[in-house]
Amino acid sequence: MADSNATDELNALASQGLAKLQTCIDEPSLRLWNTEYFGDTGSMKAALGKIGKIPPAERKAYGQDANRVKTALETAYTAALEIAKEASLQLSLTTDPLDVTLPGRPIAPGRLHPATQILRDIQAIFADLGFQVYRSREVETDEMNFELLNMPPHHPARDMWDTFFTTVPGQILRTHTSPGQIHLMREMAPNPIRAILPGMCYRNEAISTRSEIQFSQVEGIVIGEGVTMADLKGTLTAFARRMFGPDRQVRIRSSYFPFTEPSIEVDIDWPKEDPNRDRLTKGTGWLEILGAGMVHPTVMRNGGYDPDKVTGFAFGMGPQRMLMLKHAIDDIRLFWQNDLRFLRQF
Ligand code: PHE
Repeated sequence: MADSNATDELNALASQGLAKLQTCIDEPSLRLWNTEYFGDTGSMKAALGKIGKIPPAERKAYGQDANRVKTALETAYTAALEIAKEASLQLSLTTDPLDVTLPGRPIAPGRLHPATQILRDIQAIFADLGFQVYRSREVETDEMNFELLNMPPHHPARDMWDTFFTTVPGQILRTHTSPGQIHLMREMAPNPIRAILPGMCYRNEAISTRSEIQFSQVEGIVIGEGVTMADLKGTLTAFARRMFGPDRQVRIRSSYFPFTEPSIEVDIDWPKEDPNRDRLTKGTGWLEILGAGMVHPTVMRNGGYDPDKVTGFAFGMGPQRMLMLKHAIDDIRLFWQNDLRFLRQF
């Protein structure tokens, strides 16, 4: 037990201090109170200063009491000050004139992911060319993804699409949007078709700056009487001009796909001034954006059309590749990493 006199004094200091604090109605009076208790010559300061003069045996107990009182007063003061400040703010809101003509604070609306933006651009261009949009499933059968596209089991061309299998035999994640061709043809035959089929594809491949295991594709298919390779070239060049502008180079190469004959691939030149040009284009200066060709007679038959009566072309393009070309993005992996520093630039 501390010296009873000193302890009494402390208790009195505490109760008087708190009582007095109750009478302070605004910020200025609270500040005065603070000086009275915690200023250089304040009573709380004095009580604390006394610790050294208390007999050693009682010093510890007194010190603890004094600190308890100090904390109690400080806490009460801080709370009272907070309330007084809030009250004076309320008062100024009700008495000060309010400018109701001030514009509201802008709401941050977020933005479209670049992958969505490019899909919309692609759809807009093809809509102008008279194409409809058709959606098709992402979990496919081996039959749709390969067999009906002229790739029977063990066909060597299957190696072009490393596949993710599911636990259900025969059910896979589609490796391209081309199986949608069969779905659409079977729905439409024998009528003409002019449609694009956007969607996600999956490939069990090594991830690199140029390829991802998950990416979107936009398939296109046109079927009708007298559709020729010239129509395919015209459509794709018109598309590339609209997408990349008149100054970018378009290159058409012959290629191979089991479901088209003849087959082509289309490249766009990588911006010359970009230091990543050689790495991303494997030194060629070109980046492939799509595969295409004339629909193979076997595929035509599998879709329910008579290849002696109608012809058609098909293509499958990579929107992420186009984004890379448009904005000189040097790493395709950026698209699904959800790094806001990247996404905010679009
Ligand atoms: N499906 C092919 C691919 O993913 C692209 C393609 C589509 C080629 C249609 C020709 C016709 O590589």
